[in-house]
This record gives sequence, structure tokens and C-alpha cells, in this order.
Amino acid sequence: MIEYQNILDSINQSVIKEQNKGTIASYIPELTNVDINNFGIHLQLVSGEQFSVGNSHQLFSIQSISKVLSLALAMSQVGTAIWDRLDVEPSGNPFNHLSLLELEEGIPRNPFINSGAIVIADILVSNLENPKTDFLNYVRDITGDNSIDYNYKVAQSEKETGFNNYAAANLLKSFNNLNNDVEDVLDFYFHQCALEMTCQQLSKAFFLFANKGNCLANKARLTKSQAKRINAIMLTCGFYDEAGEFAFEVGLPGKSGVGGGIVALLPNQFVISVWSPGLNERGNSKLGMQALEQFTTLANQSIF
Ligand code: DON
Repeated sequence: MIEYQNILDSINQSVIKEQNKGTIASYIPELTNVDINNFGIHLQLVSGEQFSVGNSHQLFSIQSISKVLSLALAMSQVGTAIWDRLDVEPSGNPFNHLSLLELEEGIPRNPFINSGAIVIADILVSNLENPKTDFLNYVRDITGDNSIDYNYKVAQSEKETGFNNYAAANLLKSFNNLNNDVEDVLDFYFHQCALEMTCQQLSKAFFLFANKGNCLANKARLTKSQAKRINAIMLTCGFYDEAGEFAFEVGLPGKSGVGGGIVALLPNQFVISVWSPGLNERGNSKLGMQALEQFTTLANQSIF
């Protein structure tokens, strides 16, 4: 019997004492309206039990974590055809770098760097009848929670300062790897990133990746093989130029966002979500990384 609640409590006690909590992302101005002292963890076991500590019921901007959910919907809609338009290699670069995209003629390295997620957004805009509504309904469906919504102020804020993403989308367009209008694709992408969730909702949203493609209500939303592949991309590409460090320290597939959230999972065992809004130099939650390192060490559970 692993004493999960004791483990979460002791992580909380040790991590909230840290003086240096990192820096809140400010390139999306609306994200700065958050208290850096927030810290929460939610652990959802595949067997059904749940544990939490701290601000695990407070909403935050999931940002890039949403890229895993848009990939899942795109894979379930169009299958392996998406790999004609993007690759599955780690980039070793920050999430918003464009040099490789130009060098590799408009084929993004993976679906989690911004250019790759914009290609996925383009696929969803082509395939969904009402893209923003249908994507939101998909997220609500897999999570079993109709209260989940976009934060429209965050989406607008990112649109106003999203010059880098406009550059990525235009570069993709110039290489014929964007079928829809730049504005339509980015409008979808900015909303997708502006989804808000609590740690608890995030663990539930990612349940299907730990449960062979079956969501919390035990309905198949991905095939077992699709879940396996998405977990592999999370492991190798989920943390951009810090993916190696995350595998080394934590040893789980996972995904971060500049809102300070990190979700990670052990297939067939659990999903764990952490939120601490201060980021390290590489754009990943500083205390979130520390908390997950402590968790897999204390629980003695990781893929390695
Ligand atoms: O496109 C962006 O820059 C943001 N919407 C998402 C970036 C992000 O979360 C990177 N993750 N660590």
C-alpha cells in the first residue's frame, strides 16, 4: 500500500518553503494576473481513488497542455494521415523556435512545439463543423465535466501579442502546410490554449492516456495503439528543450504549459497534475518539476 496522501502532504510542505518560485510568463499579459504562491497537486489512480493537496481545485490556464488533447482529437478523427504533415522527433529547441521549421521546409518536428500544434489546429478546423465548440465538447466529454470552458480574455490577450505564432502560421502557409486561413487557425489555437482547468479536471482529462484510450466513463475515445503513441510523444517532446531533464528527473510521459501546469502519467496506474505558476528558464513550472521528481522518488513509481 503506497501512502499517497502522506507523500503529497510532504511534497507540499517541502516545496512551498522554496524562496525561488520561478517567474510567471508575461508574454501573454493576461497570464500575469495570478498569485505566484499557488501550488496544488491532484493524483487520480486508474483504480478510481483520488488524492490532492493545496490549490488543486483552482482554475488555471492549461496553455500547451491542450496540445495533447487537440492531438488526441485529430488522431481519432483522421488517423495516421496526420503524420504526412508533421514529425515525431524531439526538437531540442524552445517551444516557439522557427529555425528548424524553415530548415525542414514547413514540416514541424512534433505536435507539441507551437508550429506542430498549429498544424493540428488546421486539421481540426478542416474536420470539425464548429471547431471551437466541438473541441470544447470533446474535452468536456472525456473529462465528464461540462463546467470546463475557455478563458476568452486569455485567448484575446494571446491574439494581441501572438506575433511569433503569426510568423509560424505564415511560414507553414508558405510551405503549403496550412490549408485554412491563418486567422481562422490561430483563433482556434489561441482558444484551445486558453482552456482553464483545475488540477483535478486535468487529471481526469488525461485519464484516457493512462487507461489504454478509455476515458473516465470507460468509453473508448482512442485506440490502445493511439494512446501508446501519444504517451511516447509526451515522453520525448512534452517539455521541449527540457524533455531529457524531465525524463531523467521524473521518468514519466507528461506535458507542461506556460500557465505553470504539468500533467504526467504512468500507464495503467495513475495521472498526476501539478500547478505552480512560476516557470524556470526553459518555460516549465519550476516547483512543478521539483514536486514530480519528489513524487516518483517517494512513491517509487515511474516507467524506469
Ligand atoms: O502558443 C503559445 O505560446 C502558448 N499559447 C502556449 C505555450 C506553452 O504553453 C509552452 N509550454 N510550456
